[in-house]
Amino acid sequence: MNDYYGELCTRLYEGDKSSANKKELEFYLSFVKDENMKVLEPMCGNGRMLLPFMQQGIDIEGFDISKDMLKACIEKSERINLKPNVWYQNIEDFKSNKKYDLVIIPFGSFSLLADDVAVKSLRNMKAVLKDDGKLLLTIIKKKNEIEELSDWTETNRVSFNKETVIVYKKSFYDKRTSLLNTKIRYELLQRDEIKKVEMMDLPLRLYGPGEFESILNPNGFNNFTIHEVKDGYGEGISFYVYECGTSI
Ligand SMILES: C[S@@+](CC[C@H](N)C(=O)[O-])C[C@H]1O[C@@H](n2cnc3c(N)ncnc32)[C@H](O)[C@@H]1O
Repeated sequence: MNDYYGELCTRLYEGDKSSANKKELEFYLSFVKDENMKVLEPMCGNGRMLLPFMQQGIDIEGFDISKDMLKACIEKSERINLKPNVWYQNIEDFKSNKKYDLVIIPFGSFSLLADDVAVKSLRNMKAVLKDDGKLLLTIIKKKNEIEELSDWTETNRVSFNKETVIVYKKSFYDKRTSLLNTKIRYELLQRDEIKKVEMMDLPLRLYGPGEFESILNPNGFNNFTIHEVKDGYGEGISFYVYECGTSI
């Protein structure tokens, strides 16, 4: 059976991505102009961004399709006395009567959506944004060389007390769909004995030049600005954020 952001995946994610990097956080926070703003974080995962937002007193809520990631978010929030409003929901079917000032989808999560789902999701975001609201998101760009792994390859090994999680990956790039399809196998070992195996399919949409821009306008976002966040993910690791608006 396949898991998607299952227990072992979440454990590793929480291990090194528990909270947003300071520069990344500051960038997203700079769009919250006053305390009355309503913020939504679809695909919020373990609350890496959502919980630091709440710690600043911001009215933010979020959803995700991984029960393990949501559980990690709730458990973490209890340790810091916060009660986040997070729920199980997929972005492509998300509808609400509520209107938000800001929607954020950080950390390349939007690239987890194949084209048909990405289009539906953009329309859903447009529908819940106020007229002058903004959508901030990052995507994963196609590089000149796409790294594929034709055989199962160990890519990570992390130890927690008496347990170790080993990560194996295999990936191929599908030119027709522009999806880098990665199969991930997580093995939980206790004293060299395999106690649990988790399998995950992780398709990533890699966007070529102008491709993402071309789906913004037809799906309700008629203006956008691209920001570079220097050292956003740590020293020497920068990323780009699309600031998308619906008003002319
Ligand atoms: C890379 S994690 C990022 C989480 C969070 N945005 C962050 O910045 O750390 C991607 C998350 O997207 C969620 N996800 C993937 N597809 C989704 C969908 N269709 N609807 C809602 N959440 C989804 C996954 O379950 C996972 O928790």
